[in-house]
Amino acid sequence: MVQNMSYQKQIDEQIEGNRTSIAKDPHRLQYHLTPPVGLLNDPNGLIHFKDKYHVFFQWNPFETKHGKKSWGHYTSTDLIHWTLEKAALAPDSWYDKDGCYSGSAIEHEGRMYLFYTGNVKNEFDERSTYQCLAVSDDGMTFEKKGPVFNLPDGYTPHFRDPKVWKDGQEWLMVIGAQNSKEQGEAVLAKSSNLEDWKFAGPIAGSHMNGLGDFGYMWECPDLFHLDGKDILIVCPQGLGAEGDRYKNLYQAGYFVGTFDGEAIRYDHGSFSELDRGFDFYAPQTMVDGKGRRILFGWMGMTDDQEQNQPTIKQKWIHALTIPRVLKVKDEKVIQTPVPELEELRGTKIGHEVTLKDGEVFTETVFPSSEVTVNFDAPLIDGFELEIRKDIRLVFEKGRFIVERKSFSGNGSEQRAVALKYLNSLQIYIDHSSIEIFINGGEEVFTCRYFPDSENNIIRLKVEEAHSFDLCHWPLEK
Ligand code: FRU
Repeated sequence: MVQNMSYQKQIDEQIEGNRTSIAKDPHRLQYHLTPPVGLLNDPNGLIHFKDKYHVFFQWNPFETKHGKKSWGHYTSTDLIHWTLEKAALAPDSWYDKDGCYSGSAIEHEGRMYLFYTGNVKNEFDERSTYQCLAVSDDGMTFEKKGPVFNLPDGYTPHFRDPKVWKDGQEWLMVIGAQNSKEQGEAVLAKSSNLEDWKFAGPIAGSHMNGLGDFGYMWECPDLFHLDGKDILIVCPQGLGAEGDRYKNLYQAGYFVGTFDGEAIRYDHGSFSELDRGFDFYAPQTMVDGKGRRILFGWMGMTDDQEQNQPTIKQKWIHALTIPRVLKVKDEKVIQTPVPELEELRGTKIGHEVTLKDGEVFTETVFPSSEVTVNFDAPLIDGFELEIRKDIRLVFEKGRFIVERKSFSGNGSEQRAVALKYLNSLQIYIDHSSIEIFINGGEEVFTCRYFPDSENNIIRLKVEEAHSFDLCHWPLEK
């Protein structure tokens, strides 16, 4: 709960005033985290604290545009049933008056510590940035402590999104930054007591570690150890498209490497996008009580398509992805939906299908469904799956392509990834979103789409005769 009760009252009125019309929206998502009203962007402060999962999120409750963000708050005991809590942070202090921007959470001596960026603009629209702290005993009521780390020399005020973790006796913070040459960087700060932070230096960035020109700003970093590797997730801005890569306005991806906090050094390989879809940005991770590394992403993007989304008419926009478990295999991050989602499965409808060359299999699914397709032998070409008319998945000539009807209503657009063979698909369809996990999470595509709510047909076609199992379940909360 925010300390400022009148702010919370305005939020409550805003939610109440729009509750009925939002609930009737056919595009409203059923099992994804969405804003009760207004605009949601990045997941923040993911933490498993005192037996509860906490997911905070960037939230503008009063508009469907970006603006003075607060931290919205959801909790859950099982990762699938969520309760909306009172807002956690309001942009009402001198050091965060234009937005409590993204950040992270840690537990220390039974208390929850939130680190976030205080965004401040002056009358000339010039920005200042403060890395701030708020503390809570119960994970519900947060006491702001103010700035704990100011902008170091050599950086512009595009310096934000602190992610904190413990490394031995020390606390470390990785921050997304732009240096004064306007190159994106991930920088490190250190603390022994969580309240006094010292700048340690950059650990990766554009023009560092052999990367060449790699963006003018890096947002939302996250650094963690997984399966023997150190993974740095980061969101570079300013990369140009290269073939099928980097087609979105901003990218969200990772490096695999080795991190040495003492030497302030991160040796890493090349950058890979985490998700190949149209709508995926600012992912964050946490370790849960079962020791799993769990990721949520923002199922959205700040681009010129954003304001064409039809849900704006109902006064809400965007959502988070489903939670995914991360693993590292052969220098690649593999993402699979958390197994808890299986508890949402309603009655299974399953088919063993053998299709002749060019034959089409048609099936009606529910607008919130999980669909799995497992092939008897790897497919190497000639596959097509149309979903609710507006999405088409095609595997041909070594590329897996996802095509959607564009939000503006004019034509279609594609994203694609190189793929050698197709073994399996696991697809989560919600009323206006789709998440496609290929070959057990080797590649993932996350997209929003806004189909005609009456159209729930999927059509599958193979060029050469093939057998497969196709199952689907309505998802029930
Ligand atoms: C990423 C981002 C962050 C920032 C937040 C503001 O989407 O721009 O860098 O903290 O959103 O809402």
